[in-house]
Amino acid sequence: MGGAGSSWYESDIERIVATPEQIADKTAELAAQIAEDYRSVDELVLVCVLTGAFVFTADLARELGRRGVPVQLEFMQASSYGQAATSSGVVRLRKDLDRDISGAHVLVVEDIVDTGLTLSWLLKYLEGRSAASVEVVTLLRKPAAIRSAPPLTYVGFDIPSEFVVGYGLDYAGKYREVPYVGVLKPQIYSR
Ligand code: IMP
Repeated sequence: MGGAGSSWYESDIERIVATPEQIADKTAELAAQIAEDYRSVDELVLVCVLTGAFVFTADLARELGRRGVPVQLEFMQASSYGQAATSSGVVRLRKDLDRDISGAHVLVVEDIVDTGLTLSWLLKYLEGRSAASVEVVTLLRKPAAIRSAPPLTYVGFDIPSEFVVGYGLDYAGKYREVPYVGVLKPQIYSR
C-alpha cells in the first residue's frame, strides 16, 4: 500500500488545473448562484450526465442542500470518447431518465464541455420531454465550447484545450478518483 503523497497516478499528470480546494470553492459559488436563481422553485431535478459528472453532481447536490434547495437526482448516459482522447462526434444514449420530467425544472450537470456535441444532443433530447425549464451547469469548459456549444448557464472553470483527468473525468476508465483536475501527460494516451 502506498502512503499519502505517493499515489500511483501522480507521475501520469503533467500539471494540476484545479486543486480540490479550488473545486470546492467554485462548487460552493455555483451553488449559491443556482440557489438564488431557483429560490422560487419547489423542486430542481439535477440530471447528472454519467459517468464523468458523478463526482461534481454529488458535491453540487450537497452544496445545494446546504442552501435549502430541494433536489431530485436523475442520471443519463450518452456515449462519449470511449478510449480515444478526441471526440468521435457519435452520440448514443446508453441510459435514459427514470422519471417523467414534464413540468419540472431541470439542471443538466456536466463535467466538461469540449465541442458541445454530446450536450447539444442531450438538450435536444430533453426538449422533447416538456420540462418547465432546462439549464446547464458544467464544471469545466474548453475553448471549442465557446464557439460551438449550446448556451451554458453556469460555468466553473475555463481550461485550455488539453486532455484532463480527475474529479470524475477518466482516460480509458482510469483516474476518476483523482481528487483534482489535471492535464494528462500526452505520452499516456499517444502510446
Ligand atoms: P464534447 O461532446 O466534445 O463536448 O465532449 C464531451 C464529453 O467528452 C465529456 O462529457 C467527457 O466525457 C469527454 N471529454 C471531453 N474532454 C475531455 C477531457 O479533457 N478529459 C476527459 N474527458 C473529456
